[in-house]
Amino acid sequence: MRDAVLNMLLDNVGNFVSGEDISRKLGITRAAVWKYIRLLQGQGYVIESSTKKGYCLRQIPDILDKVLIVHGLNTSILGKNIEIHSSIDSTNARAKELALNGACEGTVVIADEQVQGRGRLGRSWVSPPGKGIWMSVILRPRLSPQDVPRITIMTAVAVAEALKRCAQVEVGIKWPNDIVCSGKKLCGILTEVHAEPEVIHYAVVGIGLNVNLSIEDFPEDIRSMATSLRIERGKEFHRVDIIKAILQEMEKGYLQKLDGDGFAELLKEYERRSVILKRRVRVIGVGGEFLGCAEGFGEDGSLMLRLDDGSLQRILAGDVSIRGENGYV
Ligand code: BTN
Repeated sequence: MRDAVLNMLLDNVGNFVSGEDISRKLGITRAAVWKYIRLLQGQGYVIESSTKKGYCLRQIPDILDKVLIVHGLNTSILGKNIEIHSSIDSTNARAKELALNGACEGTVVIADEQVQGRGRLGRSWVSPPGKGIWMSVILRPRLSPQDVPRITIMTAVAVAEALKRCAQVEVGIKWPNDIVCSGKKLCGILTEVHAEPEVIHYAVVGIGLNVNLSIEDFPEDIRSMATSLRIERGKEFHRVDIIKAILQEMEKGYLQKLDGDGFAELLKEYERRSVILKRRVRVIGVGGEFLGCAEGFGEDGSLMLRLDDGSLQRILAGDVSIRGENGYV
């Protein structure tokens, strides 16, 4: 019932809804309406009340409330099933568990805090409470397993578009999975798949986006390489607005851009945002390091690197790190 009251207020943000309307529509007493209003106020919703006019939602808190995420979310797959945790080890680990147990495509796991957030190559991911988007999406793409990197590419472009829309920032993409701003990492994407040679059972796409972290929230050793929207834009953002925009952009990409002409178009957008294209980069892999010029990206999401001896090397995202010649980018 609390959710139904909130939905009615959300349908009329900035306008009064009479207590009588709420009680009639929901079939509860005026006293019960007041009880839910007090509950919502206690959760940080600023609701003005007037004996004559009723209730008016004035301010929405930056909390991960499922009602806020679902309200007005116009997707058909992503976010149809949402699990929210105040604290969890890793949303990717939880999403994989759910996917193995048959969770439907589009299931989203979001946490306010991760205590064992994971990055690529076995690294950890700093995920303090209340400050970022720590989210994983379960997909069941009908793609060949070798084309899985396309999902990361699609997600990177979706996050970039969402950030343009919600935070007015133009971000860059550092192959394969970093979203960068002012030469620092703002967001990382971790795509994990369970597949057989011919078929993908599921893909879990984890997104870690630094929203309201201040520089002190990052461990000292990564401060020179990490940033947040708050640091870049000098103000705080509501995570839910960005979550919704990411899910909407991702769904568009998922349904329209993973194959054929759609993917060719997506790749162009990815290249337009690339911060390494036509630049010299250092590739750090298990077999050692080498330098080359990033010449383009393949249909399978690989990086085409022109080595100093003139040969063209295809690099798969799997287990390499990319650095600029002299630093992070
Ligand atoms: C990277 O750049 O190394 C990828 C970072 C991915 C972090 C996200 S946060 C949500 C999801 N859960 C995890 O444990 N990791 C991903």
